[in-house]
Parts: sequence; structure tokens; C-alpha cells
Amino acid sequence: MSEDLTGRRLGHYKIDGVLGRGGMSVMYRATDVRLGRKVALKVMGEHITGDAEFRERFVDEARNTSAIDHANIVPLYDFGEVDGMLYIAMRLVDGSDLAGLVEGGPIAPSRALELLGQVAEALDMLHEQGLVHLDLKPANVLVTSREAANEHVYLADFGLTRRGATGHRTSSGDFLGSPTYAAPEHLRGESVDGRTDLYALACMLFACLTGRPPFRGQVSEIIQGHLGADPPAATSLAMLPPAIDGVLRTGMAKSPDQRFGTCKELIAAARGALAPAAGRPSPPPVQRSGPVSGPQPVQPTPGPRPVPGAAFPSPPQAPVAPPQAPLPPMPPSGDPVRLRPPSPAGSASFATGRPGGSGSARWIVLGLVGAALVVIVVLFVVMATSI
Ligand SMILES: Nc1ncnc2c1ncn2[C@@H]1O[C@H](COP(=O)(O)OP(=O)(O)O)[C@@H](O)[C@H]1O
Ligand SMILES: [Mg+2]
Repeated sequence: MSEDLTGRRLGHYKIDGVLGRGGMSVMYRATDVRLGRKVALKVMGEHITGDAEFRERFVDEARNTSAIDHANIVPLYDFGEVDGMLYIAMRLVDGSDLAGLVEGGPIAPSRALELLGQVAEALDMLHEQGLVHLDLKPANVLVTSREAANEHVYLADFGLTRRGATGHRTSSGDFLGSPTYAAPEHLRGESVDGRTDLYALACMLFACLTGRPPFRGQVSEIIQGHLGADPPAATSLAMLPPAIDGVLRTGMAKSPDQRFGTCKELIAAARGALAPAAGRPSPPPVQRSGPVSGPQPVQPTPGPRPVPGAAFPSPPQAPVAPPQAPLPPMPPSGDPVRLRPPSPAGSASFATGRPGGSGSARWIVLGLVGAALVVIVVLFVVMATSI
């Protein structure tokens, strides 16, 4: 979507610049000229203003944002329509989103707990009101240090928020959202509740502590990971206390029944597990011999290079995930993505981005071995008959 209203007027808003772009809307920095106040103005994309379903979705987003009054939820100021374009005006958060913070590598465990602890407060409140956010990801967590002595967090983007039932789907049944942090039941189109957001929060904690999400690669690989694979141990990616692996495993349990009861419980358990790491600037990466793709944990400048297992030796019974084969980077997806609902784990309904994957490679090898055997036998026969 290339539209940019910068420099134009939309009702009593003067558009000052672009803050972010999604598939359905553009978020602008703007000025409410009546009040002389800076705002964040989300304007529905011009290309979908005629789509009744997306208009309804945008109205829902405004309603859901205004329904919740919490210190960690971005406050809504105004909602309206000008020239057929729907808009939502909200508090302009002067800072960055969590995606920007994690981009540079893992963040300090104490900071991750502080930031995600505030997200957990907002989420538990949302869940108590029967709502489920369903689009939790670092880009929807806004962080500012300009409003208080400590960093303050706002949960944003209620575009997919639902009142219980099943996750957001288009009228044609497509999954709508960001698969990188999506829970298995959400991807499958089953019923969702607060534990669906809790799963995503655990994925975000994993990303904050290790500098990468639990599953990455092509969209199909990410989805198959959430549906059926164990996430890698965080301790195999960054130097962290071993107990955090169990906490993350529970938070990311495939079955909602096996997760924590509330988001605050997840953060409390993580706080207990990470206590030995309190005061560390950021978790140092675990040293590897081979190349690893994707964002790499950043080595903190002060202090000696860590020796794996020296600070937080893994318990002998905890298997350390082997170094992962390099995966292709995430496609530059215009989140949220629109996908057909996935079939149960193990099915092949999601074609992978690699035609002729490992299965066909195996057949080629078998064929070559067979051909070599035939040549050897023929040579042997020719030699034997010529003697
Ligand atoms: N209130 C805000 N103040 C400042 N920046 C914001 C605000 N809300 C969102 N943003 C930025 O704009 C981006 C897009 O906004 P978002 O509501 O998430 O839209 P989308 O539905 O397109 O994802 C966010 O990822 C964030 O970086
Ligand atoms: Mg968003």
C-alpha cells in the first residue's frame, strides 16, 4: 500500500508523517488543529474503504480500543469518517515499539520482565472483560521513557480483538493475523480465550530474551512449528538460567489447559526463573561453531566473553537443542497475513516455500546409489567374462 496523506488535512487533523503501515491502514503522526495536540491517527486504507467487511472490522477496532480504560492500553481520543475514510485518533506514544528494541538482539532479562509485566497487566484486564487481543507481537507493544521515571508500555492495535469465540477470520474463512506469535488453536480456527494471548506473550518473552522468535522461516514453517514442534530451548540461544526453559515451555504449551492461568502468572514464574540473571545487562549469546542465520544476539561490550554453561550450567537432564540449520529469513510479510485455515499438524495442506524438499532429495540419492550398483555389477560381469 503506497498511499501517504502526509501534508494533507483530514477533518481537523493535519497529517505530519507516517508512523507505520499495515495491510489495511496507515498510522500517521498528526496534529489535532483544534486542540493543538499531537496524536497518532490510524486511517483506513483507501483501497478498502469500499469493503463492508473491513469497514466493520475498523469500527470494531475503535469500539474495542475505547472499551478498555487501563494505564497500559493506548487511550483512544476520537473516531470518525472524512471523505469516506474512517480514522481513529489516539495518544501519540513518543518512543518506539518493542519490535524496534528487540531488533538489535536480546534485551536484559530485568527489562524484558518490566516491559512484558506491563503487557501482562493490560492483557489480564482485557481477558477479565471477555476480550482476546489476538494480534500480540512486539510491533504492537509501544514503549516510552518520556512519561515516567521508568519505561512505560502501551498495548496497541485492537484490530483483531474479539469477544471470546473463535479468532478473526475473513468471510471466506481465512486466518487473519501474524503467525509468528500465534497460538496453535488460533491458527487452527478453534475457539480462543485469554490463554491464546498468553501463548503469544510467552513467544514475545522468548524473543526478548534470545533476540529471535521461537519459530522462524517461511510462513508455512512457522505455522508447522507452532502446531507441532517444540520450540528451541532459550538457553541454547542465550546464556540464561536453565529454569526459564520450563517456564517458556509451559507458556507455549500446545494445549491451552497446560499453560499458566493468567499472563501475570507467566511473568511471575519467569521472574522467579530469571532471578539469577537479574542485573545482567542482556543475556550473552551461547557460542556456536557454525553460522546461524537471522538476527544474532548482540555481545554486550563490557565484561569477558562468556563460556557456555559457566554462569548458568544447564541441568544434565535438560537436553540442549542442537544448533539449527540456517533458515531463510521471514518473507517481507505485510502483517497481518491472510491464510487459509491450517489443517491439523502433520498434514501437508501448507505447501512449503521449497519445491522438491527433503523428500524428493532422498529419492534422487537412492536413484544414484542404485545406478552406481548396476554399473559395478555390469563391470564385474564384463571383467569376469573377459578373463
Ligand atoms: N499510539 C501510537 N503512538 C505512536 N506510534 C504508534 C501508535 N500506535 C501505533 N504506532 C506505531 O504504528 C505501527 C502500526 O500501528 P498499528 O495500530 O499496529 O497498525 P496495524 O494494524 O497496521 O498493525 C505500530 O507498530 C507502532 O510502531
Ligand atoms: Mg499492528
